[in-house]
Amino acid sequence: MRPFSIIVAFDSKNGIGKNGQLPWGLSGDLKHFKEITTTVSNPSKKNALIMGRKTWESLPLRFRPLPGRINLVLTKDGPINFPSEVLVAQGLEDALNKLNLDVIENVFVIGGAQVYAKAMEHPYCEKLYVTHVQGDYSCDVFFPAISKLFIPVSASEEYQESGIHFHFTQYCRDVIYGVS
Ligand SMILES: NC(=O)c1ccc[n+]([C@@H]2O[C@H](COP(=O)([O-])OP(=O)(O)OC[C@H]3O[C@@H](n4cnc5c(N)ncnc54)[C@H](OP(=O)(O)O)[C@@H]3O)[C@@H](O)[C@H]2O)c1
Repeated sequence: MRPFSIIVAFDSKNGIGKNGQLPWGLSGDLKHFKEITTTVSNPSKKNALIMGRKTWESLPLRFRPLPGRINLVLTKDGPINFPSEVLVAQGLEDALNKLNLDVIENVFVIGGAQVYAKAMEHPYCEKLYVTHVQGDYSCDVFFPAISKLFIPVSASEEYQESGIHFHFTQYCRDVIYGVS
């Protein structure tokens, strides 16, 4: 099993979604997501994305599976409703064990709330890529509080799109206190 990262955008109240969708439309954040999750240093490898079934269903049809990356969906229902190239697992542990690490460079958990909650508790979660979106979007699903085991290691400048302010912060599991 390999360490993995979480990538998420949340608002001032840790809200991540509303009515099954992202509450905001931020092209700069989508570009950031694509760049972080697609980039590999070894071109013969790909990154893997782990997501919940509802997040899979929230993706526009023309973008799923998310191209250039291995898509793995968590569901209790099995693989019947998914394209053949999509991996399916029955839980996070099952997903992490299923990934063939010879062909995968990085593993990202990309949501939603149910999967983030499990991932944040997992000892192999080593990095968080967080887009902090200013404001309260009256969300109905939330990211858990960031554990004190994670410390911010870098932050971008602030960006603005259509009056929405946001910035990117990376958090890493603290090497001194982080082993649980
Ligand atoms: N802001 C962001 O960065 C971000 C990122 C991703 C998603 N979102 C938003 O988050 C919302 C969706 O989140 P959500 O919490 O409602 O749903 P979700 O976590 O995407 O999916 C939940 C489903 O995934 C499966 N699942 C989750 N954990 C599992 C486990 N441990 N074992 C087996 N199956 C598991 C189950 O599918 P079955 O019912 O099929 O068994 C469950 O019903 C949407 O609004 C979406 O837009 C936001």
